[in-house]
Amino acid sequence: MAYADIYAGWKADPERFWMQAAEAIDWVRKPSRALFADKAPLYEWFKDGLVNTCWNAVDRHVLAGRGGQVAIIHDSPVTGTVHKITYAELQTRVASLAGALKARGVTKGDRVIIYMPMVPEALEAMLACARLGAIHSVVFGGFAAHELAVRIDDARPKAILAASCGIEPGRVVHYKPLLDGAIDMATHKPDFCVILQREQEVAKLVEGRDLAWHSFQYGVAPADCVPVEGDHPAYILYTSGTTGQPKGVVRPTAGHLVALNWTMKNIYGVEPGEVFWAASDVGWVVGHSYICYAPLIHGNTTIVFEGKPVGTPDAGTFWRVIRDHRVASFFTAPTAFRAIKRDDPEGRLIAQYDLTSLRALYLAGERADPATIEWAQQKLKVPVIDHWWQTETGWPIAANPAGIELLPVKVGSPSVAMPGYDVQVLDEGGHPVAPGTLGAIAVKLPLPPGTLPTLWNAEDRFRKSYLSHFPGYYETGDAGYVDEDGYVYIMARTDDVINVAGHRLSTGAMEEVLASHPDVAECAVIGIADELKGQAPLGLLCLNKGCNRPQAEIVKEVVGLVRDQIGPVAAFKLACVVDRLPKTRSGKILRATMVKIADGAPFKTPATIDDPAILEEIRTALRGLGLAKA
Ligand code: COA
Ligand code: AMP
Repeated sequence: MAYADIYAGWKADPERFWMQAAEAIDWVRKPSRALFADKAPLYEWFKDGLVNTCWNAVDRHVLAGRGGQVAIIHDSPVTGTVHKITYAELQTRVASLAGALKARGVTKGDRVIIYMPMVPEALEAMLACARLGAIHSVVFGGFAAHELAVRIDDARPKAILAASCGIEPGRVVHYKPLLDGAIDMATHKPDFCVILQREQEVAKLVEGRDLAWHSFQYGVAPADCVPVEGDHPAYILYTSGTTGQPKGVVRPTAGHLVALNWTMKNIYGVEPGEVFWAASDVGWVVGHSYICYAPLIHGNTTIVFEGKPVGTPDAGTFWRVIRDHRVASFFTAPTAFRAIKRDDPEGRLIAQYDLTSLRALYLAGERADPATIEWAQQKLKVPVIDHWWQTETGWPIAANPAGIELLPVKVGSPSVAMPGYDVQVLDEGGHPVAPGTLGAIAVKLPLPPGTLPTLWNAEDRFRKSYLSHFPGYYETGDAGYVDEDGYVYIMARTDDVINVAGHRLSTGAMEEVLASHPDVAECAVIGIADELKGQAPLGLLCLNKGCNRPQAEIVKEVVGLVRDQIGPVAAFKLACVVDRLPKTRSGKILRATMVKIADGAPFKTPATIDDPAILEEIRTALRGLGLAKA
């Protein structure tokens, strides 16, 4: 069947579409129906079903006779090791870890924070929680102690599972001191922590609180899968919003299973047993959905890659992994390709590897610039599929459904809406606009299964952030347009979120950190164009009257503050001091105008500006940083 028929079929009868997709999942009790709309505009899916995620991702494959198939390949160029785990081994390891957590009192509904690098134990930790019905929250290793503390206080975990260290090229990331610091800072204290000691760095355990990963599993009975209701939260994943307080996106169990399983064949075009690789990190939604859950639910082999696209050891690493493990479908961020292209513009390293297993490349996480897509198409000679989604949705809103049919690729567009998503472009008044017209991108409610039903402990914020601006719609926070053929184009964010190397960051959160510096009276953080990372943050600082300390010193201090408070992942390295910030007459800082000045793009002086002369001052200051070139 063609995509258009499948999409039309979903639109005509969504209930039938999703109940059919739900057939691919093993239920303890089948749901009586798909959509539960009694609390609209809050929706739930498969709510009266009983199901377990770990069973569907692990045990059922063993039961079906596929225990000998490799489930996880840990390929770690930073440690020089490759390690394979079969589904049968995974079942034993996860049941044992879950058993040990259960023996320490972790039960259904308890939260567990996971703070780990790209090791298979991170996936095992997620699956062990799922096995018990515990709700995990994975925190990305590039966040600093303060960010971890904020998440501890919001999720209030019973336990924290962490590794002693992570390995970044050229440095060991000391996870344990970061964890200890975060627990000290947080008001909530976990009952216990479990630490995976890595041979690269053995951490000191805190007596009475910390347990060692392996010994804490000694002698415990393996745990069985605990059936949970369809709407039971599978996990919480914090993501950046407008303020420093991250949003806890809740993922519902049953919809997550049904939707992710559907995407593997229909979007990513793989059959069970094939190797699927998402080169991301378990700390991000791509890692949750497409390193851990979807490939395992669908019975694929997944790769946990502990390395970088370049420098581990070179720009041929991705091709080596694809060749060694016969990867059929590969997913990464455009930034990774920009980094490879920069190091190996001719693609010489690509030519050295047999990539015949690869059928398609998928890009997401940030806007895929046409030059990168075209380079990848030429060098890899497979379809390059840009697709668009968010932490909130957990799976693609728009994609080219290669497993159904490969639609013509329009470079610059992540293609068309997937079944479940009625994508609309709205004007300020909430009215759909004509094809080709820019506007806010929204999705008509209800969102499909697997998407966020709410924010953890913050239903009001959920309504306010996503549902209230355009009643009847989910507001994506992205702006763009849809063309005559239904192809979606994502052009910009409508809020203060920026995207740095495929990592979603809040400029508001960075502003809060800058404002905490004693010499800073006022500040703004904007996202400027960056050739490698897509965007990079830039801080503009107004100092307190009478402050005559050297500006370079203050800039250095605020750069250090952001690294300490938010983490290295913020990549906050650029800041300058200005006398004043451009504002509207009502006092709103004109961030978008400053972005245009910094990028050397044409702009109109906003009619509402308080004092147009400030724009010239900003331009001069930015030129001092080598920016604002006409
Ligand atoms: N733990 C600790 N620190 C981390 C980290 C982690 N898991 N991940 C990144 N960092 C650190 C890096 O070491 C770097 O620190 P530094 O300032 O001391 O150099 C900083 O955070 C910024 O990292 P990053 O944005 O990754 O930049 P980079 O310059 O190290 O590498 C790329 C550039 C393009 C190679 C890299 O950004 C990349 O691989 N991008 C792909 C992004 C991706 O997969 N995104 C997932 C969304 S799908
Ligand atoms: P995250 O929640 O971290 O996955 O970030 C989601 C945001 O990243 C989206 O709202 C977009 O702004 C951006 N994004 C993700 N994928 C794409 C894409 N294919 N094209 C353009 N922007 C994208």
